[in-house]
Amino acid sequence: MPCTVVVGGFWGDEGKGKIVSYMALKDKVDVCVRVGSVNAAHTVWFEGKRYALHMVPSCFVYEKCRLLIGAGANVHIAKFLEEVELTSVKNRIGVDRQASVIEEKHAEQDRTSAHLRGLGTTGWGVGPAIEERVRRTAKLAKDVPELQPYLADVALEVNNAIDSGKKVILEGTQGLMLSLFHGTYPYVTGRDTSASAVCSEAGVGPTKVDEVLVVFKSFMTRVGAGPLPGEIPKEEAVKRGWFEVAAGTGRERRSAPFNFEVAKRAVMVNGATQLALTKLDALYPECKGVRRYDDLPKGAKGFVEEIERQLGVPVVLIGTGPDVLDVIDRRK
Ligand code: IMP
Ligand code: MG
Repeated sequence: MPCTVVVGGFWGDEGKGKIVSYMALKDKVDVCVRVGSVNAAHTVWFEGKRYALHMVPSCFVYEKCRLLIGAGANVHIAKFLEEVELTSVKNRIGVDRQASVIEEKHAEQDRTSAHLRGLGTTGWGVGPAIEERVRRTAKLAKDVPELQPYLADVALEVNNAIDSGKKVILEGTQGLMLSLFHGTYPYVTGRDTSASAVCSEAGVGPTKVDEVLVVFKSFMTRVGAGPLPGEIPKEEAVKRGWFEVAAGTGRERRSAPFNFEVAKRAVMVNGATQLALTKLDALYPECKGVRRYDDLPKGAKGFVEEIERQLGVPVVLIGTGPDVLDVIDRRK
């Protein structure tokens, strides 16, 4: 712990929301910083209710956790306010003064650009919002009246928290294969999604990080256009129980078996020290709801151990069902 960066290892939708929310409750996380933008939906199943969060950090489930949105993020004001209400976190969430905002005009550009449509963007306008920031004409959180009650110096808060030994999670969005720098360009999102970029957006230096936890799903999915090695047809995905619909956009996800070469790349570029594996029950239905490693069937253990052997990093958290507590925790 003290400072753990959580990132996705594939094309997003690996289950970062589930893993981060589990850690929030289990480890009593003090501070959680979310970066990125509204294009990412992190799903959290908590007390029988499903949340698909576009703005609020997944640690909201632990009521003592301070929630922050980093300087590198693009804030969708309406979505932010809606989720603050939904999760009742008004008195413990902060937005960095220098975060930029994403507006309807950006979404409009996503929708009307034939090029962006061809890439299959989520339609929220994140690429255009980042473009505007790069041109240095973007509106920042500090200039938005509705955000005044939430303004914070996130870098200062999070570094103070780390220095005083508090437990901190930096919650990344999407996955390495959607990184602007390291992914399947041009079929990528508008920002780098690696652990280093997450630290940069939050304002945390690399020497302050203790663990980099890369989340993999037991099979791979992607939405939108672009390569997906080993892709299987939809009918086959349905048959295997892998077929998914995107939490944010409702689009159908394409799917493929777990790919060790892609995973090795994600381990390398992120500097992974720990791995999480989600949806093991989709591959091995007998695993559903199992919370002790010893109770896993032989085949499932074999899969986990093969991942550890090939990637050289321990699989410390394993998801076996949708609920935040459906996790096998192998950490010491
Ligand atoms: P954009 O990030 O909306 O510009 O979309 C660019 C590409 O990234 C498209 O293929 C999207 O489907 C994909 N993408 C963006 N955010 C997510 C996410 O949170 N999960 C999965 N795919 C995403
Ligand atoms: Mg998602």
